[in-house]
Amino acid sequence: MGVWLAGKPLADRIKADVAKKAAEYKDRTGRTPGLAAVLVGDNKASQVYVRTKEKTSQQLGFASRILKLPADIDARALEERIRELNRDEDIDGILVQLPLPGHLDPWAAVAAIDPRKDVDGIHPVTLGRLVQNQDAFKTCTPQGVLELLKDFGVALEGKNVAVIGRSLIVGKPLAVMLTNENATVTVCHSKTRDLPGVVSRADIVVAAMGRPAFVTPDFVKEGAVVVDVGINSVTDARLAGELFGDDPARRKDLADKGYTLVGDVHPAVVAKAAALTPVPGGVGPLTVAALMKNTLEAFRRLKGLD
Ligand code: GUN
Repeated sequence: MGVWLAGKPLADRIKADVAKKAAEYKDRTGRTPGLAAVLVGDNKASQVYVRTKEKTSQQLGFASRILKLPADIDARALEERIRELNRDEDIDGILVQLPLPGHLDPWAAVAAIDPRKDVDGIHPVTLGRLVQNQDAFKTCTPQGVLELLKDFGVALEGKNVAVIGRSLIVGKPLAVMLTNENATVTVCHSKTRDLPGVVSRADIVVAAMGRPAFVTPDFVKEGAVVVDVGINSVTDARLAGELFGDDPARRKDLADKGYTLVGDVHPAVVAKAAALTPVPGGVGPLTVAALMKNTLEAFRRLKGLD
């Protein structure tokens, strides 16, 4: 039986360290880091994520701003608003919350961010530097995954790691970071043949493809470490029962909110793995902590502090 590998205690330690450093800079310079989130349209999940980022940055003593833009904004107007943030000296970090409405090219919007303010770590210059294994803002969720593995004492060198999912904000940058750490990485996706066979050879599995409870125990080698990046809503009580048994917290979720969250990994995997991250409370808090760490670093560099 494996352990549940919670991310929140580590995220709390990272945030406390960031808050302490921000307070020291404020004492010295009178300035605080500033983070701006660009939120286009009314995607419910995006609203929740952006609100969490705003609340967290305020807790750490940052100045935080949400730029809410209408769903029908055109690409030129959106890029102009991003360029205004690039010029704003009170703003050190800029993130464009994804996904954007379908008529907008997300990567054109991200490319309009000044790379020095790319605290999400998804600008083409940032990703290029990452591939070159040069100093760069590390993409937030992959950074969270790496910190969690390190904190749990998992060495990466020489290990077989299966990354399921090839998105530009998780799978691809994570594969690069793991390669930079000397892991042997297999990136799996919807066209991979014999996915359970490939994944079950891995010492470490990272699931990030957005399919609820898709990774079942037959995918996983006995004693593997499994990191679940997925966040999916389950509204069906029968499916929730199948996944979580009669867990009272899950029943309460369904009764109060009409949904409960499940990752890309079936909870039964914990019995076969050495460790599995829970959803919620696993990688999610570490993504936000990484964003705060990157924002403090952007502030430090832009203001020429040491
Ligand atoms: N949408 C889901 N996750 C993320 C993230 O880490 N950054 C941004 N910008 N959008 C997201």
